[in-house]
Amino acid sequence: MTTTLTLNGQPVTVEAEPGTPLLWVIRDELKLTGTKFGCGVASCGACTVHLDGVAVRSCQTFIEDAEGASVTTIEGIGGAAAKAVQAAWAELDVVQCGYCQSGQIMSAVGLLSDTPKPTDEDIDGAMWGNACRCATYQRIRAAIHRAAEIMEA
Ligand code: FES
Ligand code: FES
Repeated sequence: MTTTLTLNGQPVTVEAEPGTPLLWVIRDELKLTGTKFGCGVASCGACTVHLDGVAVRSCQTFIEDAEGASVTTIEGIGGAAAKAVQAAWAELDVVQCGYCQSGQIMSAVGLLSDTPKPTDEDIDGAMWGNACRCATYQRIRAAIHRAAEIMEA
């Protein structure tokens, strides 16, 4: 099956069987390895990408769902929310081992793009599905608030 989509602003055409997880296409066919495999069952958030601007789990998004869509991975994020998140993550030294962090950042950027000044409850609602074995949760929450301040400045 041929699927045409936009990946990080560039048109791409891929050959993959229906039911192939978008995650495999991104990593194995398109060689963008910033998006991680964690659980494969939409429970950890390591594979989070944006599909038409919405944060989704690419391990449970099938290639046919991406036909004609715009997919953004950690390699392609840009704009005010992404810049603020990257700055806040560095300022608060959020990352520990780093494995979960591309997924965390994709979810945080998705949240701030829709909700520029999130409450703790907004953050918990948007981020609950992103697991971190290093337990960086408190720093992530603080960094999202910091990113909101940066965006407002
Ligand atoms: S690998 Fe997709 S949610 Fe865990
Ligand atoms: S920083 Fe290590 S799993 Fe999150």
